[in-house]
Amino acid sequence: MYDQGKQLEAVENYVYNLFHKDSTGHDYYHLLRVMKMAKIMAQQEGADLFICQAAAWLHDVGDIKLFSNPKLALDRMEEFLLSIHIKDEDIKKIKLAIQDVSYSKGKQPKTIEGKIVQDADRLDAIGAIGIARTFAYGGAKGQGIYHPAQPKETSIQHFYDKLLHLKSSLHTKSARHIAEERHQFMEVFLDQFFKEWNM
Ligand code: NI
Repeated sequence: MYDQGKQLEAVENYVYNLFHKDSTGHDYYHLLRVMKMAKIMAQQEGADLFICQAAAWLHDVGDIKLFSNPKLALDRMEEFLLSIHIKDEDIKKIKLAIQDVSYSKGKQPKTIEGKIVQDADRLDAIGAIGIARTFAYGGAKGQGIYHPAQPKETSIQHFYDKLLHLKSSLHTKSARHIAEERHQFMEVFLDQFFKEWNM
């Protein structure tokens, strides 16, 4: 009854319920894009497809930016994974893959599955979609777009603090290749932004 395809469907439903109302750029479609990207990369890099997909769906569960009680969220997630009969050793691998994904933790994932999910998540933070998500996040957290005298804590500053550095933090060749175009697009965007701002 619980083959891996059905388990992945159940995981998708689980995160849909948790994230579909999100307006910070971490909504269901972010998870869907990260999952699709992780699946492609897992095939290219020869990693475990099931672990990569499950971990990609679940990678934002327990993120301190999004959950007031991260530990509780992770405990519930584990209970859920047990309830759909995912094997203990696979649950361990999924948890290991997601625990170091977050940029703010500054950690290097230990497994290839963790590296792939982190790369897929970072690719979704750059390019046109990354730009859209940055301003959505800033708006949701009450940050301004830009402030020339106090640029700190604005969405534009986020490009310089994080987004422009992501390209060089990627682990896999497949991700680095995709990142090139997205990185360039952000540079073009910032040039144009300041051209218009300074008119
Ligand atoms: Ni994410």
